[in-house]
Amino acid sequence: MLLTDLPSWKKLQAHRQTWNDVRMRELFRSDPGRFGRFSIQLDDFLLDYSKNLINDETLALLRQLGEEANVPAWTDAMFSGEKINFTENRAVLHVALRNDPKRPIMVDGHDVMPGVVQVLEQMRRFAHAVREGKWRGHTGKVITDIVNIGIGGSDLGPMMVCRALKPYGNARINMHFVSNVDPNHVGDTLDDLNAESTLFIVSSKSFATLETLANAKIARRWLVERLGSDLAVSRHFVAISTNEEAVKAFGIDPENMFVFWDWVGGRYSMWSAIGLPIALYIGMDQFEEMLGGARDMDEHFRADPLSSIPGTLALLSIWYQHFWDAPSHAIFPYDIHLSRLPAYLQQLCMESNGKSTTRLGEKVNYPTGEIVWGEPGSNGQHAFFQLLHQGTRFVPTDFMLAAVTSHPFEGLHQMLVANCFAQSEALMLGKTEEEALAELKAEGANEDAIRLLLPHKTFPGNKPSNTMLYQKLTPRTLGRMIALYEHKTFVQSALWSINAFDQWGVEIGKRLSSVLIRELGEDKAVTTHDASTNGLCDHFQKLKGDKVFPPAES
Ligand code: F6P
Repeated sequence: MLLTDLPSWKKLQAHRQTWNDVRMRELFRSDPGRFGRFSIQLDDFLLDYSKNLINDETLALLRQLGEEANVPAWTDAMFSGEKINFTENRAVLHVALRNDPKRPIMVDGHDVMPGVVQVLEQMRRFAHAVREGKWRGHTGKVITDIVNIGIGGSDLGPMMVCRALKPYGNARINMHFVSNVDPNHVGDTLDDLNAESTLFIVSSKSFATLETLANAKIARRWLVERLGSDLAVSRHFVAISTNEEAVKAFGIDPENMFVFWDWVGGRYSMWSAIGLPIALYIGMDQFEEMLGGARDMDEHFRADPLSSIPGTLALLSIWYQHFWDAPSHAIFPYDIHLSRLPAYLQQLCMESNGKSTTRLGEKVNYPTGEIVWGEPGSNGQHAFFQLLHQGTRFVPTDFMLAAVTSHPFEGLHQMLVANCFAQSEALMLGKTEEEALAELKAEGANEDAIRLLLPHKTFPGNKPSNTMLYQKLTPRTLGRMIALYEHKTFVQSALWSINAFDQWGVEIGKRLSSVLIRELGEDKAVTTHDASTNGLCDHFQKLKGDKVFPPAES
């Protein structure tokens, strides 16, 4: 049954009507227990969701909706290795990558855990050798720079985590991430590097992604030119992939390859060998701490999916998207180390749930897939927060922050925390006309000024937010947080009756670009497309003048 046909849907529609005149500030005033009732704690990790437009009845109805959509059964199916990614005939087992190795998970009659453990051990050996200076470059130099070449799930996770866990990083090792096919990305990166002490990781689940292979070929040529021998490749290139044949064809020795499996989706893969850059940077013990954090969240989620932290956030998102007309969701980490978290979550949420066909092949008759966006605070306050406070859009938000910072400069962290709390408070409270008037009077404004300014100085408030507060951004905390969003995304997909684990939508652009790459390389008029595309090609040919593309390397 589709979401809108479930019995609780109609009840939620009726319930929504009771919210038209409700003010959150009044709910807090009348109920001193609200924070306690609408917050969940997992060790030090607290989710405060009390600043939402909900009461006990809302939550009960949303949970009932989740039951009717069979969220608990879908959860069991995922954890037990059923092929819920049915359009690709694959199990969905990122949870196996952080599972207790003693608990078997079967796919096609085989326990996947021994393979998981084996790769973790291989990662441990390699990370140790590089970090201890035992793995050296072709000329005997220790590795000081590591370049991950990959895109999407083969880039965003490791990059986001390496930034987030900088305080845990090896001081001798500089991490670089090349993803974009824009030549300036690989070019600018290589400009600053010494080939003798650089290690490249070519990271691609399919080992067929155009951007990654093109950048990897440039990097290999750069290395061989500088070190004067093809033999150097084996000390400076490793690959992470599910496709051993393609890795061999590229010229990387399978000895230098780290595998993972088709049951790990690209955007869910940072826990697999795709996380090797993380292990190289923070060490394998800390990498395993991160896995442990994800396992904590897995267990918490699995025990009671619809009352868990991820389940609650998913149900709230359903409430706002469908009953409050909120297509987007903002992510505001008050932690500069999490600056790439919004980008990471964009792929996780939007590639997973940006679908309009249900599991039964029907078109959905309701919106799916949140538009995820965000930036670290307090920067956002001086950029787009104006729209949140006084604009016409309704944007639910997530704030996240640590109680303890790794740079305890005097007073700064307290200012950051105060800013974060103040934003969620201001979004919720707003400012009434009476309050604005009292302020203007106290400032000595005359009647004309009051008439002019009063409408501009009021704030509607009643804007929902969640706050995640934890002691410190450790590998364990980060693991918990990322697993939290994975499961939130999964619960949403179950409610929307869509497959969160394929991504056919990205294929159309890939196909068209390969045609255009060839045509633009022929350096003659492009005439096979619509007038706009032909016109853009024509203008491009004129602008680039007689600078012919170098042929793409095969
Ligand atoms: O853009 C689609 C996509 O397939 C993502 O899902 C994936 O994370 C990314 O490309 C990279 O794919 P690969 O790891 O196979 O190079």
